[in-house]
Amino acid sequence: MKFITVETYDELSRKAADLIASQIIMKPRCVLGLATGSSPVGTYKKLIEKCGEGDLDFSTVTSVNLDEYVGLDGTCDQSYRYFMNDNLFNHVNIDKDKTFVPGGCAEDLDAEGEAYDKLIEDLGGIDLQLLGIGLDGHIGFNEPDEVFVKGTHVVDLHESTIKANARFFANEDEVPKKAITMGMGAIMNAKKVLLVANGEAKWDILQKSFYGPITPEVPASILQLHPDVTVIYSKK
Ligand code: GLP
Repeated sequence: MKFITVETYDELSRKAADLIASQIIMKPRCVLGLATGSSPVGTYKKLIEKCGEGDLDFSTVTSVNLDEYVGLDGTCDQSYRYFMNDNLFNHVNIDKDKTFVPGGCAEDLDAEGEAYDKLIEDLGGIDLQLLGIGLDGHIGFNEPDEVFVKGTHVVDLHESTIKANARFFANEDEVPKKAITMGMGAIMNAKKVLLVANGEAKWDILQKSFYGPITPEVPASILQLHPDVTVIYSKK
């Protein structure tokens, strides 16, 4: 594992975007696993700049996102599909038909989870998985639990996650209580993992995740078993 500490969020975003850009340059038909949350927003901005300057071509890239709120469809501006369109896909030359987000409005969410895992498998797995980390150590929406769940599944969001994510909604009551998330199987099968985290509030959970015991109570700790993880952290 490489743990890189930088001074500023701008530096974090530049480094993360450089790593993703290298992946695309080395394998133009790659599968990127993408994440939402505020941490990767700067990275997406840098990727948009690179694409605008003609230095990066997304036309043959496929993406699979980690998660989606249950009950929100892509037209809802708090959905993760909307977030991805708004923060990345609308501004680069990616083919939207090759961008996938789990369907939070699927009638049968278990079947949706199975189909999502099959899709990832059929794509040949993920080349590079970008992750943020929640204050409770969640990755995607894999919340602290008694077990690590392998497949894409529905989760009850924890109180602390609902509180943390309330900033994106009019109030806490509007935050969906459930989400559908990629499980640890697809994340751990990704060839490379890149986790970005900024702000002093994330320091403790990063220490627990990467230097503490490996336990489903700290979901990100499973990444200690992954052979190719890069963490980029900035204090600010
Ligand atoms: C959400 C997402 C996670 C993300 C986390 C942290 O819960 N499902 O994928 O890592 O938020 O968000 P932030 O980067 O805003 O701290």
